[in-house]
Amino acid sequence: MPTAVVTLKTTEDRDNLIVQRPASGLSLQGHIRVPGDKSISHRALMLGAIAQGETQIQGLLLGEDPRSTASCFRAMGAEISELNTELVRVQGIGLGLLQEPVDILSAGNSGTTMRLMLGLLASHPGHFFTVTGDSSLRSRPMSRVVKPLQQMGAQIWGRQSGSLAPLAIQGQQLSPIHYQSPIASAQVKSCILLAGLMTEGQTTVTEPALSRDHSERMLRAFGAEIKLDLETNSVTITGPAQLTGQNVIVPGDISSAAFWLVAGAIVPGSELWVENVGVNPTRTGILEALEMMGADIKMENQRVVAGEPVADLRVRSSSLKACEIAGDLIPRLIDEIPILAVAAVFAQGTTVIRDAAELRVKESDRIAVIASQLNRMGARVTELPDGLEITGGTPLTGIDVDSHTDHRIAMSLAIAALNASGTTTINRAEAAAISYPDFTPTLQQICG
Ligand code: S3P
Repeated sequence: MPTAVVTLKTTEDRDNLIVQRPASGLSLQGHIRVPGDKSISHRALMLGAIAQGETQIQGLLLGEDPRSTASCFRAMGAEISELNTELVRVQGIGLGLLQEPVDILSAGNSGTTMRLMLGLLASHPGHFFTVTGDSSLRSRPMSRVVKPLQQMGAQIWGRQSGSLAPLAIQGQQLSPIHYQSPIASAQVKSCILLAGLMTEGQTTVTEPALSRDHSERMLRAFGAEIKLDLETNSVTITGPAQLTGQNVIVPGDISSAAFWLVAGAIVPGSELWVENVGVNPTRTGILEALEMMGADIKMENQRVVAGEPVADLRVRSSSLKACEIAGDLIPRLIDEIPILAVAAVFAQGTTVIRDAAELRVKESDRIAVIASQLNRMGARVTELPDGLEITGGTPLTGIDVDSHTDHRIAMSLAIAALNASGTTTINRAEAAAISYPDFTPTLQQICG
């Protein structure tokens, strides 16, 4: 069986991932376990740090982003054991008892760390905090969380009226609000709910479409009073809350599984099993989109693990057709749009993705970057202000492409390279370690 040659060339902190496709006959086979869910990993570390007693976490993602969360909370007094996938122990310090950090907190590349943490810091009376991140995070909008926090009475300063990090926060006793968020964002929703933890009364967030609900599930499991109104997409937290440490089992990340689902779908003759994947309905938009495109995906062994639905997924290659993706589906697959664009390149017809302007303010401008990099390989991708138009069916050619330091772009391009003739080099592929440190060895494994 011909195999693709996957090699990593490392020079000074930079990885170039080289994917060399055989002239014919590549097919992908194997069983894969994807790393722990990034969103759940952040939340387990944060809630563990502010709860009373010990939290035990199994299956934590060891990516750079959760490491940033752990280091911020260690700097505020939480005892977090060495991070590993087997068992991480977090000795919670108790709600309202974060220590004032002696230095600037760094969220690295992680928007989730910064935005969720801001809700906790702003509602922590008597302490002063400064928060920053890498150059990508310092250019991402923080006003979406700073504004509602200011409505609650928070004192936050930063560039452009507090909309860009570095930010300085003087913790305050806040007042509850009912916030109508203009965007469907789990980071915004979670930030306000975390601020509501220590705020006396009912704090409510209403969003235009339902975003991922991991915070609601986990806050409830830790003992907070959470009310949901699914008709209006509203969540209410009653503060002050009492949180008690829990055992969290982190399922595999469907956002990481998505790369293999698309790889298995587009490389002829493939069959892949991705095991232990979180299939929370607020995250399974990618499965619905791939099914609309005619992908052959089967879900088996469905179960609930520590309050989150989990399943094993099998994908077999099939011919794909274009589809239209917009509206309420978007927040349920927001992180998967770059890899969905790769699927669309190999589908018959023109796929249109709309209502996804949020992609422009992710780790990179994902609309511009995925369009430009796939077009370098010969695809026909047009940028829309709020999405992409992708005409499939044009063969791709291997060439040098660039991740723009965005983890999901790096991995999406590596999957596109499996179906491109010749050799593709993905520059700055080290970005994958943000959410998937073992991406390259897994790619090597399934390529035989
Ligand atoms: C996340 C929410 C999403 C997602 C991000 C993780 C979370 O961001 O894109 O990767 O863990 O809450 P938005 O809330 O900005 O949509």
